[in-house]
Amino acid sequence: MKSRFSITGVSAEEILDSRGNPTLSVTVSTDAASGTFSVPSGASTGIHEAWEKRDGDQKRFRGLGVKKAVAGVRTVLARKVKGKDVRQQKELDALLCAADGTPNKRRLGANALLGVSIASAKAAAAAEGLSMHGYLSRMLKTKPQAPRLFMNVINAGKHASSYLAFQEYMIVSLTDTVEEGLIVADKIRAELRAQVKKRYSPFSANYGDEGGFVIQARKVAEPLEILTNVLAKLHLKGKVMLAIDSAASSFYRNGKYDVDGKRMAQNDLLKLYGALIKKYPLISIEDPFDEEDFEGFARLHAAHRGIKVIGDDLTVTNPGRLEQALEHGSINGIIIKPNQIGTLSETLEVMKLADAARIACVVSHRSGETNDDFIADLAYAFGAFGLKAGAPNRGERLAKYNRLWRITS
Ligand code: PGA
Ligand code: ZN
Repeated sequence: MKSRFSITGVSAEEILDSRGNPTLSVTVSTDAASGTFSVPSGASTGIHEAWEKRDGDQKRFRGLGVKKAVAGVRTVLARKVKGKDVRQQKELDALLCAADGTPNKRRLGANALLGVSIASAKAAAAAEGLSMHGYLSRMLKTKPQAPRLFMNVINAGKHASSYLAFQEYMIVSLTDTVEEGLIVADKIRAELRAQVKKRYSPFSANYGDEGGFVIQARKVAEPLEILTNVLAKLHLKGKVMLAIDSAASSFYRNGKYDVDGKRMAQNDLLKLYGALIKKYPLISIEDPFDEEDFEGFARLHAAHRGIKVIGDDLTVTNPGRLEQALEHGSINGIIIKPNQIGTLSETLEVMKLADAARIACVVSHRSGETNDDFIADLAYAFGAFGLKAGAPNRGERLAKYNRLWRITS
């Protein structure tokens, strides 16, 4: 029977993301409400991520157009979900997966499926008259709580032109409120800008893909040294921690890691991490080793129980990959990126699995982002350990932090 929750329309269009590459914006409507979600896109993607469908037509956007994914939403997926109850997230997502019919969503694309999946949840929340986080926490029976902010203030790796192998250097404020976290981050950014300009050149105050500075450091330890100096100068020692996302698959070649001009074996890199952990106030290291090296992660985790060893390319928000990481004892933290798996239900399944195994969830943006703020609601509703959304500048990153600020103030 048709109700205010029955899906009456699904529309989709191409938009450009924060790097100027095409992505999808999808709207799901009922008679009572509608919801729109704009899909993000990674640059240092894991090989086990669900498929991101792109046109490959070199005449448009260097082959990166998503016209075919848009067409799939408008025709196949729209037909499947029309008339269905927008609150039945699991059933809807099962229909989307069945319509695709492949294990990694290669036919219609995880980007197409995720657009419909999250837009449906947004429409459901609106039709219920609830906020997104209110709707999610009711559905999940979770206690909402503000996540720690993982702010990427120095960009390198695949997100910038630099000498550094490690991709991200983050600050993680331990302050109680989101507002205090934003105030502290602002202080750090100002001092960091002054220090890197002095140490390198005025060009070190330019921004990378995620809004962090792109500095001319030669060694992976240098950004940690600078950030530790910044914290000391601002009397923030013990109040703000540091975090790395090595994204190690991006500098793993023929069985070795290219770091600081050297070819390092797993053991050498493990030793380097040990030295960094000893010297700097690190709360976590993400993707310390190659995405197939469950054992490398496990060795780091076993040797340093006090920090979080976080899987991203390793686990790709996939329940099977998480199971494997658990079997190996590889991690005690996991990055959650809905577009790595392609539906909201599967994302939530991984979060619940992780939570039950006492693995900390860090909900994350992608380096190619849109102005969508859904992940802020998701992190808050779940009471996630962290929200990772880049530096506190650039509109597409601030959309998430501003949303969290609004929710919590
Ligand atoms: P990506 O990078 O969005 O380019 O994949 C983010 C990350 O590795 O955490
Ligand atoms: Zn990562």
